[in-house]
Amino acid sequence: MDKFHISIMSEEIVAALCIVKDRWYVDATVGSGGHTEAIARSGGRVLGLDVDPDAIEYAKKRLAGMEGVILQHRSYAELERAVKEAGIERVDGIVFDLGVSSFQLDTPARGFSYRFEDAPLDMRFGDIKKKTAEEVLSQANEEELYEIIATYGEEERARSIAHALVRARKIKKIVSVSDLNSALITIGGTGHDHFRMLSRVYQALRIVVNDEMRQLQNGLLEAEKALGSGGKLIVLTFHSIEDRVVKRFMLSHAFTVLTKKPIMPSKHELYENSRARSVKMRIAEKL
Ligand SMILES: C[S@@+](CC[C@H](N)C(=O)[O-])C[C@H]1O[C@@H](n2cnc3c(N)ncnc32)[C@H](O)[C@@H]1O
Repeated sequence: MDKFHISIMSEEIVAALCIVKDRWYVDATVGSGGHTEAIARSGGRVLGLDVDPDAIEYAKKRLAGMEGVILQHRSYAELERAVKEAGIERVDGIVFDLGVSSFQLDTPARGFSYRFEDAPLDMRFGDIKKKTAEEVLSQANEEELYEIIATYGEEERARSIAHALVRARKIKKIVSVSDLNSALITIGGTGHDHFRMLSRVYQALRIVVNDEMRQLQNGLLEAEKALGSGGKLIVLTFHSIEDRVVKRFMLSHAFTVLTKKPIMPSKHELYENSRARSVKMRIAEKL
């Protein structure tokens, strides 16, 4: 098992791509390189992209010597340009595996998880020009904080959370995970309920810091342009906000939707990897 990240639904992805030997596929979110490797081992050639330089470096080492694999430190919002620049004429399948990798979540310095109290609130995937979560928390006003938490965390207590954050930062600047967790302790809720609220707030901040919804929209549009007719678009989402965007996109663009309902991981996979529990996979075919 890969400690960097256990790739999710690899078998289902390979089956859905109907891989033809030596045709080109794009792994839009390389992470550990697990999906890239699975596609390449099934005979496909892969162009892999990731905005996180650590992910690309790790995947380059993992996949060193593997033929037909090109890895680029780049956003999937530039997918079509990446395909052209790599000299690829036709793309037969594109995979998006959204969200964070285990490596990102488990590296305290990245600030993605509420588990590491001393960590700084960074949360950028890789673009150092973007604002950190600390900057978002210190610059947004109460109404903006409410919008962020309600929209991207889908959290019912967004109003009280925004208020608590503004009150807390008047006393002490929120710079670390521990500062943020302490500000949120006043919201109430115990045990599981409290940790769900923390997850939602951290998710909301991460989405805003990385401008994830706009990136996703652009990435899907780029994928539509890059895919050849009959090519497959496969998207793995981890929360309902992403899933709605993907579902609507597939229905309203030049695709035939192949999954009326999203595919979930098998019981066996869920048993092996609890991080797969919220994943939904949607597949569409380019007209
Ligand atoms: C869930 S992980 C992917 C795991 C990967 N499929 C594997 O098998 O290991 C999501 C990855 O998407 C990357 N990512 C996030 N936004 C991106 C973007 N706009 N363009 C490219 N990669 C992005 C993250 O840096 C992260 O490495």
